[in-house]
Amino acid sequence: MNPLDKKSEGWSALFSEPMSELVQRYTASVGFDKRMWRADIDGSLAHARMLAAQKVISGEDLAAIEKGLAQVAQEIESGQFQWKLELEDVHLNVEARLTQLVGDAGKRLHTGRSRNDQVATDIRLWLRGEIDTIATLLAALQKSLLELADKHADTVMPGFTHLQVAQPVTFGHHLLAYVEMFQRDAERMADVRKRVNRLPLGAAALAGTSYPLDREMVAKALGMDGICRNSLDAVSDRDFAIEFTAAASLAMVHISRLSEELVLWMSQNFGFIRIADRFTTGSSIMPQKKNPDVAELARGKTGRVAGHLMGLLMLMKGQPLAYNKDNQEDKEPLFDAADTLRDTLRIFTEMMGGITVNAQAMEQAALKGYATATDLADYLVKKGLPFRDAHDTVAQAVKAAVSHNVDLSELPLTVLQQFHPAIGKDVYDALSLRGSLDARNVAGGTAPAQVRAEIARHRQRLS
Ligand code: ARG
Repeated sequence: MNPLDKKSEGWSALFSEPMSELVQRYTASVGFDKRMWRADIDGSLAHARMLAAQKVISGEDLAAIEKGLAQVAQEIESGQFQWKLELEDVHLNVEARLTQLVGDAGKRLHTGRSRNDQVATDIRLWLRGEIDTIATLLAALQKSLLELADKHADTVMPGFTHLQVAQPVTFGHHLLAYVEMFQRDAERMADVRKRVNRLPLGAAALAGTSYPLDREMVAKALGMDGICRNSLDAVSDRDFAIEFTAAASLAMVHISRLSEELVLWMSQNFGFIRIADRFTTGSSIMPQKKNPDVAELARGKTGRVAGHLMGLLMLMKGQPLAYNKDNQEDKEPLFDAADTLRDTLRIFTEMMGGITVNAQAMEQAALKGYATATDLADYLVKKGLPFRDAHDTVAQAVKAAVSHNVDLSELPLTVLQQFHPAIGKDVYDALSLRGSLDARNVAGGTAPAQVRAEIARHRQRLS
C-alpha cells in the first residue's frame, strides 16, 4: 500500500485526525502547480540517476523509476492521469502514482530530497523554459517592428514632447525607439536566466543531506549553470521569480506605451494608422465604431503584471529562513505574469504586421505645429547668431505665422527678413519637413539615412 495514498487520513503516525475538507482545499496547490509536471519528472529522473551513480539506490531501482516515470508522463500527457487534491501538489501526485506503478523503487526516489528543494528546482526549470520562449518572442516582435520601420524610413510624422508637436521625425525612427526598448527587455531576460538556472536539489529540507549526493552531476544533467551554494538560501529565496516578474513588468510597460500610441494614432483626431480589422472590435450600440481593444487590453494587463511584482515582493519580505509555506503563493502570480507577457508579445507581433499608415495625415499633422522652428534657429546660428538670440528671433517669427494662420515656410522671404536680415532664400530648404529630417544626420538621429543604417544593424543583430 502506498503510504501517500493514505495521506488524506493524516501525514504520518503522528497525526491523530485527518484534515478538514476546507483545510485540504486551502493548502493544496495541485490545481495550479500541476503545470510544472514535466519539470518535476525531469528533476526526479536526474536525481534518481545520480542516486544510482552514487550507489545510494540500485540499478534495478533506477530502471523501475525510469520506466514508471515514463508511464506517468505518458498518462499526464494523454490526460488520463488522475490528479488528487488530497495529495496536495504535483510532487506528491507524481510520486504516489510512481509508487503505485513500481512499488518500493518509487518509495526510494525521495531519498536525500525534500519537497522544498524539489519545488525550488521545478520552478526554476519551468521558468527557464518560459524565458527561452519569451526571448524568441521578443526577437519576433522586434523583427515585425523593423519590417514596418523599413517601409516607413522616409515617412514623416510629428515628433512630440508633452504631446505637443515638437520636431518632425520619421515613423520608422519612432518605431525603432520601441525596438531599442524590446532589445533591452531581451537583455534583461537573458540576465535573469543566469540566476534562474542554478540547482537547489541537494539542499533537501534546509540543511543539506547526509547522503553522498553529486549535486554537480544533477546540475549538468538538467542543463543548469551550477548549484545553489547555500542550502538555506536554495530552498527559501524566490528572488529569481521576483526578478523575472520585474523584467516582465518592464516589457509590459513598453508594450503599454506602444498601446497608448496605437490608440491615439488610430483615433479620428490623429488618423495616422489603421489596425487590421481582426485586431479590433465593434460596438453593440454604435454601428460606426471600430475599437483598438487589443491595445487597450494590453495596457490594462500591464497593471496586472506589475501587480504580481508587488505581490511577490510582499510575499518574500517577512519570511524568516528557510522554507515557509508562504512560498507556495509564488506560483500563480509568476505563471500569470509569464502567460500574460507571452500572449501579449505574440499578439503584438501579428498586430504590428497588420498596420497600415496614412502618410498624408502624418505629414499634415507635422505641418501644423511649427515643427521646423528649431530648424530656423539652427539656420540663424549657422549665419553667426548666438543660439539664444536665434531662439528669440524665431519666437517672433512663429508669433507672426500664428497670427496669419500659416506655417513658417509659407511666410514670404521679405516678411522673414524683417526678423533678421541674414535670412536668405535658402531658408526654405531648412524650413521644409524633408530638410529638417535630413539635417538630423547624427548617430541615433531621425534622418532617413540614419534610420536605414539602424534597421540594417538591428537586422544583422537579430539574424
Ligand atoms: N507545494 C509546496 C510549494 O509549492 C511544495 C513544498 C512543500 N513543502 C513543505 N515543507 N510543505 O511550496
